Amino acid sequence: MDYLWVKYLHVTCVVLSVSLFVLRGTLELMAQPWRQWRLLKVAPHVIDTLLLTSALWLAWRIGQYPFVHGWLTAKVLALLAYILLGMRALGKNTSPGQRLPYFVAALLSVGYIVGVALTHSPSWGFL
Ligand code: HEM
Repeated sequence: MDYLWVKYLHVTCVVLSVSLFVLRGTLELMAQPWRQWRLLKVAPHVIDTLLLTSALWLAWRIGQYPFVHGWLTAKVLALLAYILLGMRALGKNTSPGQRLPYFVAALLSVGYIVGVALTHSPSWGFL
């Protein structure tokens, strides 16, 4: 399979995943019942599975791996932070006052991942 096409797929999934997170987060902050909308419940799982599968395929194709190469280790750890913070931001048991800080922190971690992806460096090339 063409490397570039899979990279486009990966980046498309990133855009869709973050957009859907922002949409769900905004609806949650506005106290809208988004969980009743099937598309918003199912689509993120499908997209995130594709995002991770394409990520692993790309890493395998360029022979660079998390916990071997620093920038991919940073991506995986920040991805974990994004998932955990995102779960808190959208979680049913999160108090209204905590939602926004978790939401912003999740967006900061995904922003960090994009920086790492573009520079291939955990410090964005500053160190
Ligand atoms: C939410 C999580 C993620 C985001 C936002 C993200 C973002 C990106 C972006 C924007 C690119 C394109 C960079 C470019 O134009 O050169 C990219 C490429 C790539 N990503 Fe991710 N990624 C994520 C998760 C992962 C994970 C977990 C891995 C590792 C297993 C990974 C491995 C790769 C690889 C190998 C490339 C190709 C690098 C290249 O061809 O130079 N990504 N990612």
